[in-house]
Amino acid sequence: MAAGEGLALVELDEDGVATAFRADVLAGLAQPQKAVPARWLYDEAGSALFEAITRLPEYYPTRAETEILTERCGEFRELIGPGRAVIEFGSGSSVKTPLLLGCIEPAAYVPLDISGDFLRSAADDLAAKFPGLPVLPVEADFMREVALPRQVRELLKLGFFPGSTIGNMVARTAVDLLRSMRATLGEGSQLLIGMDLIKDVSVLEAAYDDPQGVTAEFNLNLARRINRELGGTLPLGQLRHVARWNDTYARIEMHLEAAEAIDFEVSGRRFALAKGETIHTENSHKFDLRSQNTLLLAGGWTPRRRWLDSQGWFSLILADWTIPRGAP
Ligand code: AVJ
Repeated sequence: MAAGEGLALVELDEDGVATAFRADVLAGLAQPQKAVPARWLYDEAGSALFEAITRLPEYYPTRAETEILTERCGEFRELIGPGRAVIEFGSGSSVKTPLLLGCIEPAAYVPLDISGDFLRSAADDLAAKFPGLPVLPVEADFMREVALPRQVRELLKLGFFPGSTIGNMVARTAVDLLRSMRATLGEGSQLLIGMDLIKDVSVLEAAYDDPQGVTAEFNLNLARRINRELGGTLPLGQLRHVARWNDTYARIEMHLEAAEAIDFEVSGRRFALAKGETIHTENSHKFDLRSQNTLLLAGGWTPRRRWLDSQGWFSLILADWTIPRGAP
């Protein structure tokens, strides 16, 4: 499994170790190209580091998407309308979700997340900001169809998936997710999804390798987590953060690269990295306008409207649940 794929429920064994984390790391390190699924970057420290990344001058996606959400409020009102249940995939950030909810007068807000902790704090924040709005958090793995709360069953849905998180997935996994969303949200639903755009490699690489080293810390935190939670002996001082553009796959890849040949253990198993060998830790796919359309259509969503930020670096797309019909 490549980094960024798959979302398994986290279960603790007798030792209190996340068995899914251990299984993913041991399987990933046994591959010719060592890789750990990107979701393991987001423990408490990793999530805090990601929040810090979103405030970096070089990391444009958060600011660009927030600009679109702010500027296009009137168009969201018109195209989405009031009375929908907003279903957010991943607990909402404190900034973006209120911008959307404040525009469209939704009938309910349902944040979905695999982690109950993030979910509850996000739901509490939102409920405080929108008194009277039913906030109905659901702890679930949204890579699969999710049963929504009874209160929203009869309402039309709007799926919200900001941040270009879809870009973390390879195309096959992204299509699986879009189809699961299609099943979860149902006929007549809409999807508002953020997708980052292909641009100058220098801009992309700076966004994922900032001079302050916050992204490097975010990446290295995975090694720290492996050492702490899985009895690992990765030598942090000999691992380098690398962010490089892969033009074939149109993605930024994050790796941890060995500065010297190293031997280490994880959960009692021995591994080695040759000098310059890497552990692949994240993919962040970028899109052009046609590849966005193709991906959405493959997942059962018909693009309806696309907005770019003023620099033309990031896009937010409104798509409709595709009505099945005979085609030539
Ligand atoms: C949270 C997945 C959207 O890919 O841009 C930021 C994660 N990784 N810097 C992204 C990330 C390194 C981010 N997403």
